[in-house]
Amino acid sequence: MKKILVTRKLLKENEAKLKEHFNVILNEKDEIYSPEKIIELSKGCDGILSSVLDKFDANLIQKLDSSVKVIANYAVGFGNIDIKAARTKNISVTNTPEVLDDATADLTILLMLGASRKAYLGRQAAEKQDWQWSCDFLLGKQMSNKRLGILGMGRIGRAVAKRARGFNMEIHYHNRNRLPKDLEQGAIYHDKIEDLMKHSDFLSINCPATKETEKLINKNTIASLPNKAVVANAARGDIIDDDAMIEALKSGKVFALGLDVYNGEPKIHPDYLKLENIFLMPHLGSATKRTRWDMGYRATDNLLMFFQGKKPQDLVN
Ligand code: GLV
Repeated sequence: MKKILVTRKLLKENEAKLKEHFNVILNEKDEIYSPEKIIELSKGCDGILSSVLDKFDANLIQKLDSSVKVIANYAVGFGNIDIKAARTKNISVTNTPEVLDDATADLTILLMLGASRKAYLGRQAAEKQDWQWSCDFLLGKQMSNKRLGILGMGRIGRAVAKRARGFNMEIHYHNRNRLPKDLEQGAIYHDKIEDLMKHSDFLSINCPATKETEKLINKNTIASLPNKAVVANAARGDIIDDDAMIEALKSGKVFALGLDVYNGEPKIHPDYLKLENIFLMPHLGSATKRTRWDMGYRATDNLLMFFQGKKPQDLVN
């Protein structure tokens, strides 16, 4: 049996499935492993099932035992893995697309609604029991019938668009390439990000974290948003320049922000925590049992295909 290091504790059904097929080193206590620990534990392993917070940079990858031939990331995003370094070392990398589109799109809608309808302040007032219904109590910004800009119209972006159509939103998007009409479903393409921003009463960030998208939402691009826009990020923290966003939240240029992902998470920029026009979730995009099962099974299938000498369905390098 091939030997696999599983860097984080998975749901028990997923661990049981892995055990049927592999000799696995499980992380019973769900410790966060340092790079050194990953190097040590993966000695003699044929593969690693990694999680989104394991940083497989070039340095770590170089030091991995030459027995390691595949890293199956338990996430759709793989910005945590230096793909080039993996290729150089002849290590295949896979991710878990599709299975988390619905859960992540659902959560994106939650971020937009939670931010625009002041869910955080609402909960606080309800808890303190010091509220009184009145005409102007916690007035939010209505999402229905507005323009929604989607940055990154991949599978998750399109799942967000599908839901937003139920709110009668007009969908705009920016992507590296324009989509074919059957995938656009009437969404309006902008080849420049600034043009997308101009049309985004609500902006949903759903693109991958790459060198090109790092701090793509910055002082200049934020300036192109309509006044009092609502922004949601369910993708990766790196895409937002936090200082510029905090400035925009303070000035009211951005009416409200919904975040599920953060630069340097689990830490969160302390200024975000002082603001009230913000709705925060702790990286829960794919956090439903159904989706986490499917992610685990998908990562397992990728490993199985790899070791059967087939091209894994989700090979990314
Ligand atoms: C979660 O953040 C993922 O990329 O799957």
